Amino acid sequence: MFSQPILNFKLNKFIVMIFVSFFLIGFLELNLFAKDEITIPNTKWDIEKGKRLFHHYCAHCHGKGGKGDGPNAVNLDPKPRDFTDDKYMVTRTNQNLFDVISKGGAAIARSTFMPPFDNTLSKEEILDIMAYIRSFAPVIKGPKV
Ligand code: HEC
Repeated sequence: MFSQPILNFKLNKFIVMIFVSFFLIGFLELNLFAKDEITIPNTKWDIEKGKRLFHHYCAHCHGKGGKGDGPNAVNLDPKPRDFTDDKYMVTRTNQNLFDVISKGGAAIARSTFMPPFDNTLSKEEILDIMAYIRSFAPVIKGPKV
């Protein structure tokens, strides 16, 4: 009878510790995620340059309007991604986009028809193109052209 409150106290402490650990694990995971994410400083987005590069390197497959309906798309299966599909695009992090553009579709277990561009474009050029791609799906915050 005497030991009851002590037991309760220990149990409460245990529960609190579990909550604290969950919180810490969650916090650490968020931090890892944040580190993984490529941040594009707004001031550095050269969206006009991104547009020019996109028209030169990507539009014959992805279409000038980014809908995945460029002249080459008829021959492709699966079709190039539709960048105006905001429900899909919102699931893609900047890191996802960067990886697929630099390493190609094969690198993320997608169609090998999506070529790698890391030998053709610099990191800055890829980021500029990404800024332009983001502007097709208005749900995602990004500068308008
Ligand atoms: C030869 C045609 C072709 C060219 C050129 C091309 N792509 Fe693609 N791209 C594809 C195809 C096909 C897919 C779809 C891959 C899939 O869903 O399996 C794709 C998918 C993508 C995706 C989406 C991947 C995802 O997360 O689902 C991005 C982003 C992308 N391309 C960006 C670019 C950019 C930027 C360029 C120009 C620098 C470019 N592509 C040039 C064919 C092409």
